[in-house]
Amino acid sequence: MKILSIESSCDETAAAVVEDGRKVLSSIVASQVEEHKIYGGVVPEIASRRHVEAISGVVSSALSEAGCTLEDIDAVAVTHAPGLIGALLVGVNYAKGITMASGLPLVPVHHLRSHIASNYITHPELKPPFLCLVVSGGHSHLVEVKDYTDFKVIGYTHDDAAGEAMDKAARAMGLPYPGGLNLDRVAKDGDNKAYKMPHPRVDGAPYDFSFSGLKTAVLNTINIANQKGEEINVPDLGASYIKAVVDCLTENTEKAAIDLGYEKIVLAGGVSANSVLRREMTALCEKHGWELYAPELKYCGDNAAMVGAQGYYEFLNGNTADLSLNACASLSIEKTN
Ligand code: KG4
Ligand code: ZN
Repeated sequence: MKILSIESSCDETAAAVVEDGRKVLSSIVASQVEEHKIYGGVVPEIASRRHVEAISGVVSSALSEAGCTLEDIDAVAVTHAPGLIGALLVGVNYAKGITMASGLPLVPVHHLRSHIASNYITHPELKPPFLCLVVSGGHSHLVEVKDYTDFKVIGYTHDDAAGEAMDKAARAMGLPYPGGLNLDRVAKDGDNKAYKMPHPRVDGAPYDFSFSGLKTAVLNTINIANQKGEEINVPDLGASYIKAVVDCLTENTEKAAIDLGYEKIVLAGGVSANSVLRREMTALCEKHGWELYAPELKYCGDNAAMVGAQGYYEFLNGNTADLSLNACASLSIEKTN
């Protein structure tokens, strides 16, 4: 079964053709990073406009690169939630237009579900159940993936998401957008013990996260250094900060896996590209003899191949929509609408 998939939840306009949820026939991503860079972050209104300009060409390229026309496609999957509402609407309306013209089924896909599904592309043998750490720019969740379309959130962040925390700290250190990626690069040569960072925990909620205190610690460190006329060592501060964030992520994952008996751990979302997180999770899983899965780097960030992967399982489960489908800025991963 071939699915044409569309993603426009934030600042990438993407389309792909994916066969049977696992085989990527094409994956086109038009990034707006350069445009948002001068503002230091994503400007929603600009994102929506750029999606409108790019979507038609991106979808055409995805079809032609896969050697397909719409006649070869069996369903159209689209990210409908969560994300920037104006951005989501572009993809949803475009997908609705295609299904209206072609009569193909329309499959709404939750953005975080699709991040998890990026692992099905990279690891054809991977099947639920497993425990997944989903860490993106907008979310930090520990999720029990009981089946392809059955999710239970057991841990979440009480304030900033892990990616947001990376981006804000990077910005405070003077690094350009996209912050997380640049912080990861700069911190590679840093000493992660050079700066003392707090170790935030959420009382009575062992799988939950809180990153805003860490961000404040970085801001305070920078402000105090400025007041004293001292230089900040950005690689050292970056490395110390990333270590603190990653420690929180790995410790909660370890606790949840032990408590709930999972021996299969999966990483997903933009922050799963982080080199320290991948290294520490590998060490954790080796220590316990657990299996670790992470997406290929090109499928960690937003893309449409992952939407086609999850769309396949949503379709098999009967999760299709009619033309009344709307975009939704916020929606639990446990729900389909
Ligand atoms: O999943 P994603 O592409 O978009 C959302 O759904 O939010 O995640 C984007 C987030 C951004 O906060 C970005 O800074 C972060 O992922 N990110 C990283 C790395 N690459 C991307 N954070 C840390 N290290 C990286 N290598
Ligand atoms: Zn994402």
